[in-house]
Amino acid sequence: MARVLPILLILIAISFPYLNSADRHSHEESILECLYSQNYNNTISQVTFTPTNSSYDSILQFSIKNSRFNTSASPKPVLIVTPDSIPQIQTTILCSKKHKFQIRIRSGGHDYEGLSYTSPDHNSSFLILDLISFRNISIDLAQQTAWIQPAVTTGELYYRIAEKSSTLAFPSGICPTVGLGGQISGGGWGTLLRKYGLAADNVLDTRVIDAEGRILDRASMGEDMFWAIRGGGGNTFGIVIAWKIKLVPVPASVTACTVTRTLEQNATEIVHRWQYVVDKLSNDVFFMVVLNRVVNPIQANATTIQASFNSLYLGSIEGLILMMEAKFPDLGLRRENCVEMSWAGFPLNSPLESLLDRTISATGSAKFKGKSDYVKEPIPISGFEGIWEKLKEVGVQTGGLILASYGGKMSEIPESSIPFPHRAGLRGLYEYMTPYVSKNPREAYANYRDLDIGRNGGGGEGDYRRARSWGSSYYKNNFDRLVRVKTAVDPANFFRNEQSIPPLSSWR
Ligand code: FDA
Repeated sequence: MARVLPILLILIAISFPYLNSADRHSHEESILECLYSQNYNNTISQVTFTPTNSSYDSILQFSIKNSRFNTSASPKPVLIVTPDSIPQIQTTILCSKKHKFQIRIRSGGHDYEGLSYTSPDHNSSFLILDLISFRNISIDLAQQTAWIQPAVTTGELYYRIAEKSSTLAFPSGICPTVGLGGQISGGGWGTLLRKYGLAADNVLDTRVIDAEGRILDRASMGEDMFWAIRGGGGNTFGIVIAWKIKLVPVPASVTACTVTRTLEQNATEIVHRWQYVVDKLSNDVFFMVVLNRVVNPIQANATTIQASFNSLYLGSIEGLILMMEAKFPDLGLRRENCVEMSWAGFPLNSPLESLLDRTISATGSAKFKGKSDYVKEPIPISGFEGIWEKLKEVGVQTGGLILASYGGKMSEIPESSIPFPHRAGLRGLYEYMTPYVSKNPREAYANYRDLDIGRNGGGGEGDYRRARSWGSSYYKNNFDRLVRVKTAVDPANFFRNEQSIPPLSSWR
């Protein structure tokens, strides 16, 4: 799981001419001059931070959610802009273009490979446009819609919806600190995906600033670009400054259950059986399994594998127990495994206010590496036994695998409806699973960014033929349509990173 990226992959062609330190210095000064001279009233100087500024480190680090990229060796931005107005964003785009700086757009900072705040290319000059001040939420209860800004986290959104209504929700991710700027740009799955699909399936309108600095909405950008920004990946088509989302109905009280089983408690057979049952359950059930290596509770100095079966049911405890007794008796679900709570409360065991805390994170301050796979056929018992051995071998403190079932509404939405194409199957996170996972392409979820499966050239320079291999894993047959949209809306490839969609002009 915790693989170190091969150094060879970092030593690739660079996008900007090499600058010696004196050139670099004047290059930085020239963009600062541009920002200060172009921005009306020069308000941008108050939200622009260079490494000499005492706040630079704390602003940079506040939204770094993967400590793997928070080291002294991690490439740092030459400056950070934290705009609090749209003209400041437009000025940053125009000056970055003029002075050939790459922009890294950051909303919540959860990018698995840190691409919103660093670059694997040590020679690239980039700045961070940190949207942390864009955090408004405006809920229209009568219309059951909301306008949200990109740095709003899922937790903040769930909290503000719950404040106004106990029977409305939004089908986005589970971790409360993830930013909706990045999450919706890549899809966004959570506990309501079997009932209502992805977050990106529930976007009605948007505001995006394009590479020319224009503000576009759904009508002015057209349906192709509106399709592309809902799942085609962040930092590719423009800067999302707002989403209009559709809220969905949920019961005032839902049921959350956790059952844990170790290998000694028949975990292998129950996980195996889970695969056959899970997509046949009502769409009101979300049901995932987390597999971890743990200390063996019955054998000193030994480890075992623990399977944690976590479910969320849009109904009562009794209703879920009856369903499980009929469809999945092997699990042995009991009342004491379950609690009834508000939908927004899942999976927290703390007051709802903790949803507002941007500093907590599922990954804590850990260095992590994540991978994703799609499983189309059930994994046999022997496959799981091999996985347990691999999990026990993993040379890191914590290695784990999450299996989350799609099905339900996800199977009803066509693969081309938005760029996210993986509408049927289970999700896993481990290379050992090669024989058991999707092939040609080996599919992956764009929001679980993984540079091991391929990347653009230095500084994010795109190359269509190279990008096609990792692009097909994330987007399958939607990749070419994404390239066509990119070619139309950003032919000069201003918005780019190591896994952004390249324009067709990059065919070499
Ligand atoms: P970040 O700010 O790092 O942005 C991610 C990408 O989007 C970057 O390329 C960035 O440049 C771009 N971007 C950000 N804001 C943009 C904007 N306004 N306009 C254009 N581009 C923009 N996913 C999921 O579906 N369900 C889940 O439950 C979880 N849970 C989860 C937990 C944890 C701990 C992590 C680390 C990640 C997840 N994810 C997830 C994955 C998550 O959805 C994914 O990493 C998102 O891209 C993160 O969005 P942020 O805005 O937080 O990241």
